[in-house]
Amino acid sequence: MKNPVPEIELLREEIRRHEHLYYVLDRPEITDAEYDALIRKLRALEQDHPELASLDSPTLRVGGRAREGFVKVPHSSPMLSLDNALDEDELRDFDRRVRELLGGADFRYVAELKMDGLSMAARYRNGLLEQAITRGDGAVGEDVTENARTIRSLPLRAPTSFETFETRGETVMNRKAFERLNAERDERGLSRFANPRNAAAGSLRVLEPQVTASRRLDYYAYFLLVDGRPAFDSHWHSLDELERMGFKVNRHRKLCGGIEEALAVCRQWEAQRDELPYEIDGVVLKVDSIAQQSALGFTAKAPRWAIAYKYAARQAVTVVEGIEVQVGRTGALTPVARLKPVAVGGVTVARATLHNEDEIERLGLQVGDEVVIERSGDVIPKVVRVFAQGSYRKRFEMPDVCPVCGGKVVREEGEAASRCINTDCSARLKESILHFASRGVMNIDGLGDALVDQLVDRRLVESVADLYDLTGDKLLLLERMGAKSAGNIVRNIEASKKNPLPRVLSALGIRFVGERTAQLLAEEFGALDTIATAGLEELQQTPEVGPKVAEAVFQFFREPRNRELVDRLRSAGLNFEAELKRPKGGPLKGMTFVLTGTLPNFTRDDAKRMIEAFGGKVSESVSKKTTYVVAGEDAGSKLEKARQLGVRILDEAALLEMVKAE
Ligand code: IVH
Repeated sequence: MKNPVPEIELLREEIRRHEHLYYVLDRPEITDAEYDALIRKLRALEQDHPELASLDSPTLRVGGRAREGFVKVPHSSPMLSLDNALDEDELRDFDRRVRELLGGADFRYVAELKMDGLSMAARYRNGLLEQAITRGDGAVGEDVTENARTIRSLPLRAPTSFETFETRGETVMNRKAFERLNAERDERGLSRFANPRNAAAGSLRVLEPQVTASRRLDYYAYFLLVDGRPAFDSHWHSLDELERMGFKVNRHRKLCGGIEEALAVCRQWEAQRDELPYEIDGVVLKVDSIAQQSALGFTAKAPRWAIAYKYAARQAVTVVEGIEVQVGRTGALTPVARLKPVAVGGVTVARATLHNEDEIERLGLQVGDEVVIERSGDVIPKVVRVFAQGSYRKRFEMPDVCPVCGGKVVREEGEAASRCINTDCSARLKESILHFASRGVMNIDGLGDALVDQLVDRRLVESVADLYDLTGDKLLLLERMGAKSAGNIVRNIEASKKNPLPRVLSALGIRFVGERTAQLLAEEFGALDTIATAGLEELQQTPEVGPKVAEAVFQFFREPRNRELVDRLRSAGLNFEAELKRPKGGPLKGMTFVLTGTLPNFTRDDAKRMIEAFGGKVSESVSKKTTYVVAGEDAGSKLEKARQLGVRILDEAALLEMVKAE
């Protein structure tokens, strides 16, 4: 038998290294499943050799360490993690233990989705968010209040009769936000986040709250504690109460009478997980009754009343047989791995995106290598890492001419992408049309890959504006096109003219201008022509629009061929004006506020945003037109002026009272 002493120590070292990568650096090298396997192995060795037990073993603590840079805060009660069940048998074992320990009493499970993010505690006092803390090592976390305040689904105030309470829940980034963030990072030549969980962690733990704000995080609450203890005697009840208080609570929760019902939930979501807008890695079962939870108690690391049923990672190992290059709408060349087909979670995968040259470099990948691929959501699978180098390897080189049109390819300084700069490249045109017609943009049903290929190859469409000149007769010239579908397509194209301005704006395909930015620009400027003629500075006045986006918009409209496109779209009858905004209602409608001094719970900006959200206006100086002055600590001359003019004065609590939900 091998000598267990060095083996155990090596394994512990290895685990510590991975914990550091995961918790401290946000840069894990192995998957959770691989990490769990290492821990299991260590635990088994320790069980067989109790003489080698050690107090600093990774099996004896909850998680990793907190990173420097944030204030450390002790948790009101430990934030533990969960034991895992990796298959149905292990789940049944868990159930058997629970039943035994409860001595045959009736009990129920709450089944919840196990969202793949990072857990966070949020403390409230007098109904107001006071402090948000990451899990850290489970005993002590990091104060991320300022960042957490930017998470829109985390209520800043939550009506309740508890003087203080705490929620625990999961901070996640949904897939759409994740894809958008990575696309932006590609554009800016930054490295990609490996998955939404890392992106959420990286976004919550940055030192600038504006960065967190731009990342669109979400918070789902799953515990309600008062003084570190569950607030109600049933977990299910707590979840309902959290929802009532305004927290986002995952709706896919179920109260289950027994393990069979719980297993059905696990199976259901394993089959349907791709339909969810966020990633899950399993289902959590919790014994519903808090009295029964107390009777079951805890092990050193996890509660005995809960378990995570973990789905198998959807990874597989296969060979990269070649690397092809695709040309996108902006001309960006994307390398795609051609794989020896392999089944991953029930789907055969033959291609995986490699994003760009830097990513290939980072992976150290060459054609011929064996790689680990992963499928998550319904997005194109990706290469996670090289598993083993091939015996015959071939290095990838980015072509210096476009594989489609033969045009020149350039990679600009500081950019991750190489681009075909030929604006007439047919691949670029095809992608532009597909983008133009896609759902969420102009939404033209029936304009798919095959049709667009034909339209471009037969030169029926040489610019997206040509779509509006298509007639049924022209379409009937195409292969596999009947009168009925031709009619439908022409009708759908016609109907797309009614799309509102933000859609038209995002349809243009201006770099960095996706759905959200288009919405903000349309709100700010009200008309396409105003945006087209706006100066750089003006563009930058738009919320969330920085210099880079402003520059892209500005340059787009200075390009003669884009101007021509815009003119043609205007003649076609597309919507160039924003619909008039409905005047905002709300309890503060028609009132003007002036803020002065330091408010106890709100920064000046937050208070302004809140007032505006409820229909009020905020002004800088006090006049007779001011309805209220909201005064905090150290209020100065504005408060004085309010008194002179007889303007009514409020404190923060009175302001909150005014906007309290009926
Ligand atoms: S309960 C003591 N419920 O999974 C109970 N956790 O391994 C601890 N998670 O650290 C957590 N969804 O980050 C719970 N509905 C859910 C969850 C959930 C995701 C995460 C959480 C936790 C880890 C447990």
